[in-house]
Amino acid sequence: MAQTESFEFGTVGGVPVPGFVLRNALGVAVSVTALGARIVRLGMPDALGRAADVVLGFDSPQDYLASDAYMGATCGRYGGRIRGSAFALDGEVHRLSRNEGAHHAHGGRDGFDRKIWDAAGDAAAGEAVFTLDSPDGEEGYPGAVSASVAYRLDDLGTLAIDMRARSDRATVVNLVHHTYWNLAGHDSGSILGHRLQLDADFVTPVDESLVPTGEVLRVDGTPFDFREGKPIGRDLALVATAAGGYDHNFCVRGEAGRLRRVAALADPASGRALELHSDASGVQVYTGGHFKVAAKGKGGARYRQYAGVALETQAFPDAPNLSHFPGVRLDAGCEYRHRMRIRLHHVTEDGR
Ligand code: BGC
Repeated sequence: MAQTESFEFGTVGGVPVPGFVLRNALGVAVSVTALGARIVRLGMPDALGRAADVVLGFDSPQDYLASDAYMGATCGRYGGRIRGSAFALDGEVHRLSRNEGAHHAHGGRDGFDRKIWDAAGDAAAGEAVFTLDSPDGEEGYPGAVSASVAYRLDDLGTLAIDMRARSDRATVVNLVHHTYWNLAGHDSGSILGHRLQLDADFVTPVDESLVPTGEVLRVDGTPFDFREGKPIGRDLALVATAAGGYDHNFCVRGEAGRLRRVAALADPASGRALELHSDASGVQVYTGGHFKVAAKGKGGARYRQYAGVALETQAFPDAPNLSHFPGVRLDAGCEYRHRMRIRLHHVTEDGR
């Protein structure tokens, strides 16, 4: 039976930040903290039992607050970009805070990733639950929203992340989990040799400011075709974006609202692998192209370009302004849900 123990993840303004470690019988240990309801560490053995921490991050709350990389965080209210920092709902225009040029990204200047959430751990159940109340008008969004994120680890190696939200009036919600993976170890260098497979036949192209143009493009014959699986670096040079690599929303095959496979990621050298399932309509694949100025990460690690890959299941970016994208409206009395299931496992060298 997976277990939960609590720890203190430093302090903010003199107040201790709660944290929990979820451990299972396979030697997996996931550390989560109330700062941004985020994952700060994920220890995972390789096929021979040698453990590595496979997520990028920092050692203190202060380092997270000084960073704009959203490492391991829950982004909200709306993860991803909203063009022009505005959208209309029921004829009313809502102006959001601008934190990326003219645009709004990942919930704004003081988004959910920067908040200290209320925290509760269930020692016997391998579970930690974080809750947050966001007042009406925060960052420009309409409606008072209560959000929750539950992390649960089981003994078969699956980490479940369940995100929920309710609002007291119509609004938009898109809670996005923002872990950067490096299955060889967070401090091991580049993920370009990781093999990535995506269950996506379409991608949403972006303009020079990385906001979707509204087009929906077939991946056939493009560098965005990950359907058969390939090393992340194989076609990366062909993707000319301001992000220096992949930073795109892929349209997940199948029906949104149902759990289905989204992605498989494997590091052939260590054999560490994961399979990601979700009920979200899209997944943002971001290969860490912005990590040019090496940030000082956990234990003094230097995270350079391509040090990690984020697989952010989500509603499509800028969906509040693009009516042909799947809807993101949350009405009063309804519940928003976003589920992720991350199955941690091992593969042999040929990637099977
Ligand atoms: C975005 C990137 C951004 C990163 C950190 C990702 O979700 O797609 O463009 O640089 O988050 O903010």
